[in-house]
Amino acid sequence: MQQLTQQLQDNNTPADLIQLILSICRACKEITTQLQGGAMTGVLGSAGAENVQGETQKKLDVVSNDILKQTLIASGSVRAVASEEEETIVAGNDEGHYLVAFDPLDGSSNIDINSMVGTIFSIMPAPASAAVSEQDFLQPGRQQVAAGYVLYGPSVMLVLSLGDGVQMYTLDQQTGEFILTVDRVQIDTETREFAINMSNQRFWAPPMQAYIDDLLAGSDGPREKNFNMRWVAAMVADVHRILCRGGLFTYPWDKRDPDKPGKLRLMYEANPMGMLIEQAGGAAYTDSGPILDIQPEKIHQRVPVILGSINEVNTCVAYHQQRPF
Ligand code: F6P
Ligand code: MN
Repeated sequence: MQQLTQQLQDNNTPADLIQLILSICRACKEITTQLQGGAMTGVLGSAGAENVQGETQKKLDVVSNDILKQTLIASGSVRAVASEEEETIVAGNDEGHYLVAFDPLDGSSNIDINSMVGTIFSIMPAPASAAVSEQDFLQPGRQQVAAGYVLYGPSVMLVLSLGDGVQMYTLDQQTGEFILTVDRVQIDTETREFAINMSNQRFWAPPMQAYIDDLLAGSDGPREKNFNMRWVAAMVADVHRILCRGGLFTYPWDKRDPDKPGKLRLMYEANPMGMLIEQAGGAAYTDSGPILDIQPEKIHQRVPVILGSINEVNTCVAYHQQRPF
């Protein structure tokens, strides 16, 4: 079975991009060690602070952010990073060719219940000039050079796209190597499974309510088939399930807070996951069209998200022809 480094070299990946991906792997192995310590090492629980989004930070959010930030800044290939846990961008090497946006620990409410979490990353080209600003990060997702995540589950997996399909690698805990275990991931076009936080139903736009009502009606309703529901409460794990066996995932528009037209963040959640889903033959939408076509306005921007099996995403989007979601 092929190792990550060998596979990247065989595919003529630029040397500095390989360096960068290996830096992310090193950081994620360190995060794995921290997660595995759990209650024994005192890393569980709240850090007693809020991040820029007003969310309570867990100690492991802070620890994971520091590990990734320091590793990437030291890697030489990185001009600057943007993180869910950092208010502004952090500069790296003036000569680095890449910008990296990341969610250091997605699904962190799962930490204290020993359930799945992950690290999500998006790699973009850096500007030609040495000086770098937040503006340089505001590139549509189509311009991503690479995107991926590391899922900390029963096994630790790296899922990666460099714009030519999606590969899954499993961490061999004995050797510390990521080994290619699924080549060219392909999402089923049809599905009978969906993922949404149903407790928010009353806040959704009417078309989303109508779409979900029809799924719930099952074989008695207009869809004439029964659907199953799953919700891990960690996007990284819900997306992983969809890459493995299809499905539809949505965190839709809701009316609670006009400043938050969705919960998920464009630069380090929706864009990298959108690239993986499209590269695996699925679809990833927001209310104005494909996620990857959004022109970002700020690094912590939030967007509604619908992604997964292409036919089901198209069906859901069709319910919203005249309305937002
Ligand atoms: O990062 C935001 C996030 O934790 C996602 O990983 C996840 O899909 C979602 O929020 C969970 O939201 P809720 O708390 O509404 O279940
Ligand atoms: Mn997240």
